[in-house]
Amino acid sequence: MMFASKSLIVPTHYNKFHILIHWIVVFVILLQMITGDKIALEFLALRNETITNNGNTSNSQFHILGGVFIFLLMAIRIFLRIKFGVPIPTKKTNALLKFLSTFVHLGIYFILFAIPITGLLAFSTVNIDLSIAHKILVNILYLFIITHLIGVAYHQIFLGDNIMQRITSWKS
Ligand code: HEM
Ligand code: HEM
Repeated sequence: MMFASKSLIVPTHYNKFHILIHWIVVFVILLQMITGDKIALEFLALRNETITNNGNTSNSQFHILGGVFIFLLMAIRIFLRIKFGVPIPTKKTNALLKFLSTFVHLGIYFILFAIPITGLLAFSTVNIDLSIAHKILVNILYLFIITHLIGVAYHQIFLGDNIMQRITSWKS
């Protein structure tokens, strides 16, 4: 992975907090997908006063809190990468897979900052273009996640290098 070479330390496994954050972010993204529909309705009501959502904003608040939480977790994750490093790709990873995984991981990091920023700006300024950007970025995130999952499955099933162990095994 490209990030790994930038760190002075090359560990044999992910830091346990890094692993914890990976799975918390997965969980909060699922919550964002659920609360996304609700904030979309409130956003529509904000833009068009003739539409009402019966004053129900609690789900929107969850969406905002969840998004800000992801932003903070990603900032901590970058700090952990710099401080503890990340393991090098498994021996069975070929050059194409290395390139793809670096691209997808970098993309996920970038987009998980860009999505909350566009969301917050869209909501606070009631800006339709920014909300469209938010939705487009969310869809690109889904593409990254699908590619990520195909990559993990390929490692696990065809390369047989048990890559899952790296992101589930709780070492120091
Ligand atoms: C990584 C964090 C976030 C994720 C994964 C996420 C995901 C989503 C999803 C799935 C939707 C529904 C899109 C649709 O209806 O097609 C949505 C809509 C929306 N989100 Fe987020 N969101 C995040 C952070 C935020 C934050 C921090 C805010 C701040 C207010 C926000 C504001 C909005 C708004 C205003 C909409 C409605 C957009 C519209 O209908 O035009 N989001 N988001
Ligand atoms: C069930 C779903 C998921 C599984 C089974 C999974 C599995 C894995 C595995 C095995 C690794 C280690 C790869 C390696 O060692 O090179 C990893 C790393 C990673 N995963 Fe996932 N993942 C899942 C969902 C997600 C989601 C939803 C995201 C974010 C949107 C994500 C983002 C990342 C990133 C950025 C890395 C690189 C390591 C890092 O910098 O944190 N994963 N994942």
